[in-house]
Amino acid sequence: MALPSINPTTTKAWKALQNHFESVKDLKMKDLFEKNEDRANNLSLNWEDFYVDFSKNRITEKTLSLLLDLAKEVKLKEAISAYFEGEVINKTEKRAVLHTALRGKKLDTVLVEGKNVMPEVFEVKAKIEKFSNQIINGELKGYTGKAFKTIVNIGIGGSDLGPAMVVDALQYYKNHLATHFVSNVDGDHVNEVLKKLDPETTLFVIVSKTFTTQETLSNATTIKNWFLKHTNNKDVAKHFVAVSTNIEKVKQFGIDENNVFPMWNWVGGRFSLWSAVGLTISLAVGYNNFNQLLEGANKMDIHFKNEAFETNIPVVLSMLTIWYNNFFNAESEAVIAYSQYLNQFATYLQQGIMESNGKSIDRNGKRVNYQTGTLIWGEPGTNSQHAFFQLIHQGTKLIPADFIGFAQSLHGNQDHQNKLIANYIAQTEALLNGKTKAEVLQELENSNLSQEEIQELLPYKVFKGNKPTNSIFIKKLTPESLGKLIALYEHKILVQGIIWNIYSYDQFGVELGKQLASNILGDIKTGSYKNHDNSTQNLLNFFKKFN
Ligand code: F6P
Repeated sequence: MALPSINPTTTKAWKALQNHFESVKDLKMKDLFEKNEDRANNLSLNWEDFYVDFSKNRITEKTLSLLLDLAKEVKLKEAISAYFEGEVINKTEKRAVLHTALRGKKLDTVLVEGKNVMPEVFEVKAKIEKFSNQIINGELKGYTGKAFKTIVNIGIGGSDLGPAMVVDALQYYKNHLATHFVSNVDGDHVNEVLKKLDPETTLFVIVSKTFTTQETLSNATTIKNWFLKHTNNKDVAKHFVAVSTNIEKVKQFGIDENNVFPMWNWVGGRFSLWSAVGLTISLAVGYNNFNQLLEGANKMDIHFKNEAFETNIPVVLSMLTIWYNNFFNAESEAVIAYSQYLNQFATYLQQGIMESNGKSIDRNGKRVNYQTGTLIWGEPGTNSQHAFFQLIHQGTKLIPADFIGFAQSLHGNQDHQNKLIANYIAQTEALLNGKTKAEVLQELENSNLSQEEIQELLPYKVFKGNKPTNSIFIKKLTPESLGKLIALYEHKILVQGIIWNIYSYDQFGVELGKQLASNILGDIKTGSYKNHDNSTQNLLNFFKKFN
């Protein structure tokens, strides 16, 4: 089945939403809570160890039902089936989108071009398990017979961000192996990492789906040359493994075929941490934890696939994004995790969400006449409260935010945990209620200020509130709950792409950047810069002056 290709703005539901928007856009959430004691019970979902409260949004129950009508009218249900069943929904690249198969069950059947891919998926999982165990328990050794102590992941984009984010997020579950990630083509990055390495005890994992990415191949070559300064070619096999679909290129690079962990074209780079791209995760936290991560994602997959839209977490949260993006004209969304472990989560989501839904041609080949992909950004709380929260509270922009929290801390320091969660909850409450003139006045009147000073200060201290937030509150950060959380955001990408009638799974915009850089690199190497505009020419001249 081809994906439906309905311009959302032509649907009945869209028109109904436009009319409805006019009647609710000025409503105050605070009043809605006052009028309905059950608001939070009606607008929240309990699922497994997740409590998702979306009641602090500028919606009524009618808004939600109209948004879900829109989802039905653009045939979201059919699209979800096509996604899970391996239809070629990445039409522009003629590929299925099957990262969900990577966390499927052994006895599932997932067909790609008529062939069940699950046996291959489990074969690679078994290879990951065996290799991880052998490295962790010291059975496999380096060229001088010492056990490995350090893993270096070399990759970029989806071949870096996912593994790096998860290894950081699950550091509590980590074993003795140290991990480093080299991604940027900036030579200072690789050199800073090399300074910390002992060639005798370091394993290098080169991750590149295509094995043609400039950054990754440059870093891998620099590292291999550094390694060969200490020993010889035959030892490369012991210290370098690769994850790729391009076995030929990997062999050309000098890596033994037995050291290749395969992946498939039906796994998009930004959704690939569940595949052998997650090898560094499995090495860092052990295969069992890696598998728990996959099992969590599988649970979210089943929820997303089967649950009615009304109680379907990814669907409901996606439709709220559509509400703000397309009706309130909000440009960005913040993701604030009250967990230092999720330090890299927003950065990871930026690739997933913006590389997928930063598109402007619809599935009929026409330029869209409405807004698509939102800007995603964020930093962990409480740090972000002392950085950009001022703008969320009192700036001119509407910034809906997801607040992610974990009820239990991992190290069990209750005093810190109470303070962390107090901040987490207090911020969403403050964003909802704001601070009225009367409240500020009362506060100021208890101070030593004169009436004149109070009146002067008053407007600056008022907070309008009415700022929307979703609270995604999870019992505890475990490999399984993290898997669920990541899969939740992956499924939001699908839903939003379907509603916006765009193709979410190609990335031609990024590929243009790759081509342009190689043209300029050619010019830098030859020193002749003829065919550029004046600005580009000057930049090249400035560079030449110092090199
Ligand atoms: O940045 C573009 C991109 O194609 C991403 O989609 C991908 O994750 C990244 O490059 C790395 O690609 P590869 O794994 O093929 O090296």
